[in-house]
Formats: sequence, structure tokens, C-alpha cells
Amino acid sequence: MARPQIQFTPIGVVRTEHICAEKTPIQPVFARQCAGRIEVFPEFVDGLRDLDGFSHIHLIYHLDRADSPKLIVRPFLQDVERGIFATRYPARPNPIGLSVVELLRIDGGVIHFRGADMLDGSPLLDIKPFTSKFDCIEATRNGWYDEVDTETTRRKGLREYEQAAKP
Ligand SMILES: C[S@@+](CC[C@H](N)C(=O)[O-])C[C@H]1O[C@@H](n2cnc3c(N)ncnc32)[C@H](O)[C@@H]1O
Repeated sequence: MARPQIQFTPIGVVRTEHICAEKTPIQPVFARQCAGRIEVFPEFVDGLRDLDGFSHIHLIYHLDRADSPKLIVRPFLQDVERGIFATRYPARPNPIGLSVVELLRIDGGVIHFRGADMLDGSPLLDIKPFTSKFDCIEATRNGWYDEVDTETTRRKGLREYEQAAKP
């Protein structure tokens, strides 16, 4: 039986300073210096009501320049093959990015944030509030990430921001 195709419509676009994937920090925790903004398309702006009460938001976006999907990858932090679903590597069957970023302010349809780890122009699919009521779960196992030492994680995670940022 044919599997259903799913189509999403972007609700906006993410604007960042990052134009080169290889120089972009790999997660918001390594991008605290990196400001970004979201330009929400006019027909979705009403949906931003009450969002300004949150310190952090989840951004869900299309990794639109990802390489073709692979099921086995070498993740950015470790030169060891891993299953794609055990990584945050972009070349996924459904290239969806998920970043928790710090909400700075909202001006009409423009959301200013910090923690940009996505390329400029990434199509935004959804925004959800981050709340300590739902989202703060302490992990008790970190899989293969626990094999990577703190300094390597920091160096490889920051990429070009190694000198500027101190997460
Ligand atoms: C490891 S992914 C993590 C993204 C998100 N925080 C997540 O966990 O889903 C971040 C990397 O993906 C790449 N990237 C960011 N935006 C992209 C886009 N729109 N298309 C393709 N690759 C992108 C950059 O190399 C960046 O360092």
C-alpha cells in the first residue's frame, strides 16, 4: 500500500548570519552569540499572540539544503558511524530541524531570538513555546554522546565560533 505523502506550508523564514553549513554551530547551545530573526508571513501573525510570555521557543524548520538522506552517518562530534536517528545530523529521511532558542522580543511579525544554528533562509514550519512544565526532563543516558569528551564537544560544536563563545 502506498504511504501517504505529507505536505507542509512554511509559516515564515528564519534569518541568520549563517550562509555556510560547515561554519554554522551545530546546536543552539554553541550559538548563544548568534542572533537571528524569524519573519512570520502575514497570514500567520495572529497566531503569535501570547508567545511573548515565554523565554524560549522551539523552532521547527526545513533543513532545506541538507544532503541526500542517509541511514548511517558520521556525526559532527565523532568519526564513528551511527544510525541517523541516533544523531541530529541534517541528512535525514525527513530533513526537519528542531532548535530551542531564546526569545528576545517580538515586533509585529518579526521574532528576534538568540541561539541560531540554522542557515539563513531556512523555511520555518512551526513555533511552539518551550515550558519548564513540559520540556525539562533530565536525561539519565546520553548514548554515544557520552563517549565524546567535553572539550571535543565544545570545539566541534562551536566550529567558527570557537574564539567568540564560551558555552
Ligand atoms: C546538526 S544540525 C541541528 C539542527 C537542529 N538544532 C536539530 O537538532 O535538529 C545543525 C547543522 O545543520 C546544518 N544546517 C543548518 N541549517 C540548515 C539548512 N537549512 N539546510 C541544511 N543544513 C542546515 C548546519 O551545518 C548546522 O551546523
